[in-house]
Amino acid sequence: MNKLSIQTTENPRPKPQPGAPLGFGTIFSDHMMIMEYDKGIGWHDARIVPFGNISMSPASTCLHYAQETFEGLKAYRAQDGRILLFRPEENFKRLNLSNERICIPTLDVDFCVESLMELVKLEKDWVPAEDGSSLYIRPFVIGNESRLGVKDADNYMYMVLLSPSGAYYPEGLKPVKIYVEEQFVRAVRGGVGFAKTGGNYACSMLAQHTAHEKGYSQVLWLDGVEKKYIGEVGAMNIFFVIDGEVLTPELDGSILAGITRKSIIELLRAKGYQVTERKISIQEVAAAADSGKLQEVFGSGTAAVISPVGELKWEDKVMVINNNEIGPVARYAYDTLTGIQWGRIPGPEGWVREVCRI
Ligand SMILES: Cc1ncc(COP(=O)(O)O)c(C=O)c1O
Repeated sequence: MNKLSIQTTENPRPKPQPGAPLGFGTIFSDHMMIMEYDKGIGWHDARIVPFGNISMSPASTCLHYAQETFEGLKAYRAQDGRILLFRPEENFKRLNLSNERICIPTLDVDFCVESLMELVKLEKDWVPAEDGSSLYIRPFVIGNESRLGVKDADNYMYMVLLSPSGAYYPEGLKPVKIYVEEQFVRAVRGGVGFAKTGGNYACSMLAQHTAHEKGYSQVLWLDGVEKKYIGEVGAMNIFFVIDGEVLTPELDGSILAGITRKSIIELLRAKGYQVTERKISIQEVAAAADSGKLQEVFGSGTAAVISPVGELKWEDKVMVINNNEIGPVARYAYDTLTGIQWGRIPGPEGWVREVCRI
């Protein structure tokens, strides 16, 4: 079993002032975690160290062949001072699925959770207290062998960074406008769409730019073969409410198995909603919009939790959903999930882990 050593910084940096805008992913806490892997030895030298730059060979595998995987989760500060994690083991199980696909050695899920709890405990004062803010957690793994041959690396680094982040919707939940991408595709069945690996995001940026230029905030991807079936949004899974039924695309290997998606499905089913995971064509959604049966559309992901969609543009068609307002299903999912994550309401057994108290 790996041991975790801790070296604390001698130069702690000032924490952001209460109320200061945090944005997303640009401020880092005082410490980070590193662990290394060498072929023949396995994962070793797990350590928490002061946050800082790392040195690597310019021939490092990750820089040339994108051998890297990552995760994203959050630590939340409850009003009573508890610091909470939401289903962290799900993120590390998914990291291992991504690793297997990208030929990266898997990690011990329990060790990842336990060492993350140590890191967050050490950095508890970096968990912001403002409504909707959180400490974003970024675990990632890179192939780090100095060799230009196309081959999976013999050496890897696992790291965890912590970044205090502001509320996704500081002015309250606001429906977003989404553009259905017609030219480019993000993933194909048999590819790496289900893996959280950098290349999936690099290949999505061009379409994202076009969507922004046209006044849309995100791209909705269709399947890579027929450009017919709905996949997911940039960093969110997607749900539709059509004629009272909640629909979301099935996990066919080309979309990420979102932990928010899974949690929402469980919460909505427990509340009595009919939730179906299946193929959904964009034509079906357009027809439902025409017949007045498209009641709600919303995205789900760790960053925003729930993102109501107010407008969907596909080819020349503009679908305005629920009068550009959040609907009851999205509202219930958002209130329940955020209530559980920020410790305001109890969640199902095992969903929330208490790291420590402030
Ligand atoms: C491509 C993609 N789909 C879906 C999601 C939502 O996943 P989760 O709910 O686990 O954050 C994310 C965010 O991680 C993502 O990057």
